[in-house]
Amino acid sequence: MSALFQPFTLKDLTLRNRVAVPPMCQYQAIDGLANDWHHVHLAGLARGGAGLVIVEATAVSPEGRITPNCLGLWNDQQAQALAPMAAAIKAAGAVPGIQIGHAGRKANANRPWEGDDHIAADDPRYWETLGPSAIAFGHHLPRVPRAMSVEDIARVQQDFVAAAQRALEAGFEWLELHFAHGYLAQSFFSAHANQREDRYGGSAENRGRFLRETLAAVRKVWPEHLPLTARFGVIEYDGRDDQTLAESIALVQDFKREGLDMLSVSVGFTIAETQIPWGPSFLAPIARRVREETGLPVSSAWGFGTAEAAEAAVASQALDLVMVGRSHLADPHWTFAAAKQLGVSKPSWTLPAPYAHWLERYAA
Ligand SMILES: Cc1cc2nc3c(=O)[nH]c(=O)nc-3n(C[C@H](O)[C@H](O)[C@H](O)COP(=O)(O)O)c2cc1C
Repeated sequence: MSALFQPFTLKDLTLRNRVAVPPMCQYQAIDGLANDWHHVHLAGLARGGAGLVIVEATAVSPEGRITPNCLGLWNDQQAQALAPMAAAIKAAGAVPGIQIGHAGRKANANRPWEGDDHIAADDPRYWETLGPSAIAFGHHLPRVPRAMSVEDIARVQQDFVAAAQRALEAGFEWLELHFAHGYLAQSFFSAHANQREDRYGGSAENRGRFLRETLAAVRKVWPEHLPLTARFGVIEYDGRDDQTLAESIALVQDFKREGLDMLSVSVGFTIAETQIPWGPSFLAPIARRVREETGLPVSSAWGFGTAEAAEAAVASQALDLVMVGRSHLADPHWTFAAAKQLGVSKPSWTLPAPYAHWLERYAA
């Protein structure tokens, strides 16, 4: 019996299996508004059979967008535009999730296929970037951000709260806070990016404060019966991994006390010079450690996109839920293909009836 195809219950929700589509930016929005592209993309993925589909990193404020074409949730019109996406994901039998975040010093970039670098200061699409300290990411993102004041911090935290409320109104049932990948929250935690001398910088306790406070504020408005999760880079692969992991796990334990329901274990990506051991399932042992030491359910991504790798991650109890990203871009019906490969009975019924009926009956 496949472990990947067992249901997964978190709070009041039960996912039909352990496959999740992680947030994947499409860079197709204008003024932060979802459109036909997002609708077709997300409905198609949900119809492919995954238990959970998480909408891409959606900015809590205009300056929090990675690119000018990222989704937003800083106004009601954007929530109204996202509501049909949540409904379509749900109608296809998946749980509708959304990731909300602020890109910090990595914001105001060109789309990956248009350079992936910071937008020039004389471009009309330019905006000021923010960070914990006036320290640039470097590499392809050399712009020095403005160091946030305590008032800026409070405003951004309030933006997270307002975006969470709008996500709920739009019909999303699973909220993921983007605390990963070198964006604003992750950069607060990073000793590389955060050299503040106030209560938001210095010790690990202080560097975790922005994240803890943001989570606690969102938990107050996000219903208790629905999952509140976070994606967090627990490791940088920068040569000081033992310390980072210990500090990260302590912070995740704090998150749990503040009401976090699950962690998506990822990489920090706050510095360009790292030795990431890319390869199939490379985060599995790290995720397992977080799961064992915090007692929280965990998911992870990066190289779990074959049926064998995804099945092994759940069967070996490294992950509760497997994020399958790029393999879903290659084949939106990835879950169906995995079900066939893993010998699940009547695999076609991972798809909607108008597809499943014919495939079950007449499969070659
Ligand atoms: C096109 C694309 C967009 C992405 N956008 C996001 C995002 O919005 N938020 C996020 O946390 N990760 C994002 N990621 C990372 C994915 O969620 C995932 O971690 C990554 O693709 C690795 O999983 P995979 O090996 O199954 O593809 C993105 C990845 C891709 C390929």
